[in-house]
Amino acid sequence: MIILSLLLRWLATAKAGQLVTQNADADFNIESWSLDVHPSPNNTANFIFNTVHSLLTGWPGRRYRNGHTIVPGILPAGTLLYHGRGDPHVPETPEWTALDSELSTLYCGLFSEDHQGCWHLTLVAERSLKVLYFDGYSGLKFPGGTIDSQDVVAWGKIEPDNYSEEPRRISDLCNWGKQFGIDGFVRLHTSYEVMLCNFSAGLRVDSILHLKMPYVPQPANSSFQGPPIRPPPKMEVGIPLDAFGLEEILASKRIDEYPGEVRIQLDLHRLVSFYDISLAPSLVSTRFGQHRLRHRILGISQEDIIAAKERIADELAAEKWTGLVSGIDWPSWFHTLVQRYADRLELLYLDLNSTDCAEDISPIMRRIFVQLRGMLQPYNLFSVQPKIKSNHEKFWAEPVYRTCAKAYPPFVSAQATFTPAEWLMFSSLSTVNGEICRVITKMWADGVEYDLENTQTHDMPSLLRVHTQWKQDLDALMSWLDWTEWLKCAPACNFDEMCYLPISPYRVPGADPAEDWIIQARDPRPTCVSKHSR
Ligand SMILES: *[C@@H]1O[C@H](CO)[C@@H](O)[C@H](O)[C@H]1NC(C)=O
Ligand SMILES: *[C@@H]1O[C@H](CO)[C@@H](O)[C@H](O)[C@H]1NC(C)=O
Ligand SMILES: *[C@@H]1O[C@H](CO)[C@@H](O)[C@H](O)[C@H]1NC(C)=O
Ligand SMILES: *[C@@H]1O[C@H](CO)[C@@H](O)[C@H](O)[C@H]1NC(C)=O
Ligand SMILES: *[C@@H]1O[C@H](CO)[C@@H](O)[C@H](O)[C@H]1NC(C)=O
Repeated sequence: MIILSLLLRWLATAKAGQLVTQNADADFNIESWSLDVHPSPNNTANFIFNTVHSLLTGWPGRRYRNGHTIVPGILPAGTLLYHGRGDPHVPETPEWTALDSELSTLYCGLFSEDHQGCWHLTLVAERSLKVLYFDGYSGLKFPGGTIDSQDVVAWGKIEPDNYSEEPRRISDLCNWGKQFGIDGFVRLHTSYEVMLCNFSAGLRVDSILHLKMPYVPQPANSSFQGPPIRPPPKMEVGIPLDAFGLEEILASKRIDEYPGEVRIQLDLHRLVSFYDISLAPSLVSTRFGQHRLRHRILGISQEDIIAAKERIADELAAEKWTGLVSGIDWPSWFHTLVQRYADRLELLYLDLNSTDCAEDISPIMRRIFVQLRGMLQPYNLFSVQPKIKSNHEKFWAEPVYRTCAKAYPPFVSAQATFTPAEWLMFSSLSTVNGEICRVITKMWADGVEYDLENTQTHDMPSLLRVHTQWKQDLDALMSWLDWTEWLKCAPACNFDEMCYLPISPYRVPGADPAEDWIIQARDPRPTCVSKHSR
């Protein structure tokens, strides 16, 4: 149990008794875990889990737009970057580049000076470029929190009124990044963009092509004969989804889901998150009672900003770029848990929701019970003595719960070399897996106690009580987990459609501009839209 004591020691010394008291349930002595104890409302294990599993994917970033996590990474030699503009010059100041030419050619047109032609640059990385990635919808320059994490790094404070001060932000980020040799900053736009600090450092211009405008937007008035009109991107109102054609949106679909943008290689073991309670304890109270949509870094104490910037600087030190010591493939450790449970929990949810109280629900209850038993099969110890038709105390089932909770993530000897970020991720995985185990074990134990599998006749009131309890337990678990895998178009889209979550500045077809999702920071709903322009 050396590993366990290492972990406990880290928890105890992680800058704070705070972690231990605030996240009191992040107690790794699993032997003491009980079926009745759920994570504290201030525990951020679920947010850290979702953040890590969402890195470099578009769908979750557009749902929860306010990023909290900063990760160093590299763009390998040979990566292509694109930039579009109105003149044939290579930028001499920090500027945007896109990983997808669908995005850069669109902007190429927007910056065209004669509305007929524009210049498109293709750059090749000649060495690996050092980048810093901001998660969330970090390319969206909007009030509401999408760029809080960038402000903290660039300015050491959040300037809520200055959300649109883009050239100053990027140039200050680059000035700050010089000491660490940072070449650029990665943000989610439609797809990913790289804000490059110096177009001549480590990059070669592969081509500068004079291109025809990629689109000819026609005014509503068809007798109009002049040059194509450049529609002003009025973000607040939105523009039709196919205003410029759909290439850019289709490109964004490619990175919507795991593994997302594979051309950027992140060093997760150097990740810094404002959801880390030991790093930013002042945010616990500003988040309290807030839906995740409204989580912001605004409100963080100056002390925590200094600590966070110090941690980021530590993680960017020259010797830290040499590679992962533990050798653990963190993305796959997270993805495995999602793969294992996302569909199963959803199926349980649908089955529980499919009953009609007027009919005999025992067949469906049996079916749900068999699913639960299947999920727990690897942990259903021979020694466990179920108390059938007991007084429903379920304590007999706790060994099953603890076996399930201990099974993932595994303790590995590489833990001796874990970085703070790796401990954070390990603790998040452990808490999230433990909570799934707790709820499914509790539900399964209900079924065992009512002998759901064998008894043919049940008294309906008891069965309905179990049903209600199951629904409550599963609803609570699924809203705590809040996996974006469950945010989907239902019914599924047709073959020539795509499931679309709003992308600025495009308006969802048929949506009322006055109820714009960006302004109101509501939970955006996905819609099926045609892959063809009208
Ligand atoms: C916004 O930027 C201006 C200068 O561009 C500065 O004077 C002002 O203090 C900034 N706002 C905040 C809240 O810092
Ligand atoms: C950009 O990089 C080139 C090549 O390393 C260097 O010569 C130049 O001084 C840099 N420009 C700035 C503004 O730092
Ligand atoms: C259409 O455009 C023409 C030329 O610009 C203009 O004379 C005419 O009034 C416009 N018609 C409408 C209905 O806007
Ligand atoms: C959670 O945080 C809030 C705000 O700081 C605090 O009032 C509350 O006591 C905390 N709850 C627990 C269970 O720690
Ligand atoms: C749950 O059941 C209700 C009533 O039958 C139905 O309207 C709703 O769409 C169902 N929800 C899901 C997610 O299937």
